[in-house]
Amino acid sequence: MKFSQLVKRVGGDGADAWDTHYRALAAKERGENVIILSVGDPDVATPAPVVERAVDALQAGDTHYTAIRGRGTLRERIARLHESRCGQRLAPEQVIVLCGAQNALLVSMLCLTQAGDEVLTFDPMYSTYPASLEASGATLVRVPLNRDDGFRLDLERLRSAITPRSRVLSFATPGNPTGSILSASELAAIGELARAHDLWIVADEVYAGLAPEGRVPSLAQQLPERVVTIGSLSKSHAMCGWRVGWMTGPRELIDHAENLVLCMLYGLPGFIQEAAITALDMADDAERRMRSYCERRAALMLEHLQGIPGIRPLPPQAGMFMLIDVRDSGLDGAAFAQGFFDRHGVSTIAGSAFGTQTRDCVRLSFAVEEPLIVEACTRLRRYCADLRVEARAPSRR
Ligand SMILES: Cc1ncc(COP(=O)(O)O)c(C=O)c1O
Repeated sequence: MKFSQLVKRVGGDGADAWDTHYRALAAKERGENVIILSVGDPDVATPAPVVERAVDALQAGDTHYTAIRGRGTLRERIARLHESRCGQRLAPEQVIVLCGAQNALLVSMLCLTQAGDEVLTFDPMYSTYPASLEASGATLVRVPLNRDDGFRLDLERLRSAITPRSRVLSFATPGNPTGSILSASELAAIGELARAHDLWIVADEVYAGLAPEGRVPSLAQQLPERVVTIGSLSKSHAMCGWRVGWMTGPRELIDHAENLVLCMLYGLPGFIQEAAITALDMADDAERRMRSYCERRAALMLEHLQGIPGIRPLPPQAGMFMLIDVRDSGLDGAAFAQGFFDRHGVSTIAGSAFGTQTRDCVRLSFAVEEPLIVEACTRLRRYCADLRVEARAPSRR
C-alpha cells in the first residue's frame, strides 16, 4: 500500500531521537534500575488547585464539545499572561487554545507555509522541529548558531541564509537543548531582517516562564503583524500531560488556525480548559516554584558534573536541560549516549538529535528527583573513567 509524502517528512531523525528514551521507559516498566534523563517532564505534581478544578469540572459534567478556539475566559487569561510577559495587548480573538506548544508549532506552520517555501531555524533546534517545520512541504533551512560563543546567534549566517523563498523564521527562546535566551539586541537585529524580507517570526516561548522573572525579550509588541508567539503550561506549571498550549498572533492567522483545528483537534476538553484557567490565575506562584526547582537542580547537576574527565558541562540560561560536551571522551554524542544507557542504564539524548552543532554533545534533563541527579552523575563519572581506561588499553586486534 502507498503512503503520502508527509509520512517521510514526519518520520525522520527527529523521531529516531526518542528510541533510547522509549527503550528506557520499557526497561523501567520491566523493573530495571534505569534513570531517565531523556525528557523534560518535571517530577513534581501539578499544583493541587489545578487538579481539583479539573475534577470538579468533570464531576459537574463538563465533558461535552467546547468552543473550537478555546473558551473565552481561558483566551482572555492567556492574553493577560502574554501582555505581562511582553507588553503586547491582545484581543481574545488573537488567541487560540491548542494541544500543547507542539501542536501550536505544527498549526502555525500549516497555516503559514507550503511546498516551495523555506523556513529558517537555528541549529541546534528542538528535535521535533525538522518534522514540524517541514510537514507542510516547506524546506527547512538550518542556520548554525555560534558554537564557540555559547550557541549565540550568528547574524551574518542568518542574513546570508535568507532567500526570496524564505517565509518564516522560527526559534525557541529559551532554546532547547541549549537553554539560551535570545537577547533584546539579537531580537532587534532579527526584527530588522524580518521586516526587510517580509518574514513571519514564530517564537516558541514554551520555557519563558522558567526564564529570569518569567520573561524573555520578545518582538511581539514591535512587530504585531508578523510575530506569532507559542506558549504552554507544560513546563511552567508541571503540566506536560495536560496538553494545554496556545498560539497568539494577528487575528487573520488565528481565524485560519481555527479552521484547521476544526478538522484536526475540535477543541480541548472543557474540564482541561477550566483547570488551565485556574493554572493561569496562579501563574506567578507556579512559575516561581518551577524556576526555583530548575535553579536548584541545575546547580546540583553542575556541582556533580564538575571534574568528570572527558566531559564539559554547558550550563543553560534557563530551562530543564544541561548539555555536556563529550569531545574529550573520544566519542561523539550518539556513541556516548548509547554506551551510557547500555552500560549504566541512564537514558539521555544524543546532541545529533538537535542538529549538527551539537553532534559532540549529549543532553541531560535535570527535571528529575535530586537523588537521581546525584546517582546519574556518579554513574557518568564511572562511565567516563572506564572510557579513559579503554582508550589507553592496547588494541585487541
Ligand atoms: C522547544 C520546545 N517546544 C515545544 C515543546 C512541546 O511542548 P508542549 O508540551 O507544550 O507541547 C517542547 C517540549 O519539550 C520544547 O522543548
